Amino acid sequence: MSRETAFYLDSQTPRIISQCEAMREWVQSAQRAGKKIGLVPTMGALHEGHLSLVRAAREECDACVVTIFVNPTQFGPAEDFEKYPRDLQSDLDLLAPYGVEAIFAPSPPEMYPPGFSTYVEVEEISLQWEGASRPTHFRGVATVVLKLFQVAPANVAYFGQKDYQQTLVIRRMVKDLHVPVQIRVCPIVREADGLAMSSRNAYLSHDERQAALQLSRCLKKGEELVGQGIRSSAEVLTHMEQTLIASPLVQVDYVVIADPETLQPVEQIDTRVIALVAARVGKTRLIDNAFLEMPESLPS
Ligand code: PAF
Repeated sequence: MSRETAFYLDSQTPRIISQCEAMREWVQSAQRAGKKIGLVPTMGALHEGHLSLVRAAREECDACVVTIFVNPTQFGPAEDFEKYPRDLQSDLDLLAPYGVEAIFAPSPPEMYPPGFSTYVEVEEISLQWEGASRPTHFRGVATVVLKLFQVAPANVAYFGQKDYQQTLVIRRMVKDLHVPVQIRVCPIVREADGLAMSSRNAYLSHDERQAALQLSRCLKKGEELVGQGIRSSAEVLTHMEQTLIASPLVQVDYVVIADPETLQPVEQIDTRVIALVAARVGKTRLIDNAFLEMPESLPS
């Protein structure tokens, strides 16, 4: 066993691992010692949303691995891969209070060595909404997440509901490819004023930050109307869209009320549906979502 992989759970400092083989040995050695391993895949630029996943992993597992890797294959050619915030030291400082056992921070060539040519395509669920706006995005996500599951074969992996379609793509892939990992999806963490936490919020100017609130306000409007018993998606969506475009800085990509499993639009809201929203605020593309629940007591 290499020096990097010597397994320890008692140290205060997390082990920072950059090699795939060392990471796999570490996880397998911990599992041989009877430990249940929780994995929190991230692209760094950590915020409270990520930390809520770390807290869940710490509570539910014996040891927690956080991965920090800005995955090039999930960014389109005109997207923000180059400028995506990277600050490993600040991420380590944020993780310090949580006693994370290991951090996997590989280089791009470690994850994608020269000649790399295998990708994972999850059909259907990847095609619409985010997939329509970002055609190669979910192929990149599914590929890197499967690679992370291979490299750090944890028992449970934690993802945030903020990337709702991503969670469905990952669940589908895990099922279809018989990956032995349990997927846990944790609730969206919001700023006090409602803005969903996202690493990309750092791009927003003061005015854009204010305008970005229209996304969560639009979802609140949807919750409110469905809570009052309005069943027509078209009617709810009209009000949601009006809320979203109340700021001239917001350019709508999509707003949809959909089936939570298939993401197909629903016309009539009878039970629980998901509302998904994506919009550009200035140059920054933001997404958010919320479940909308028809109160059971209302007659259909
Ligand atoms: O949600 C993210 O931060 C990324 O898509 C993930 C799952 C870490 C894969 O790069």
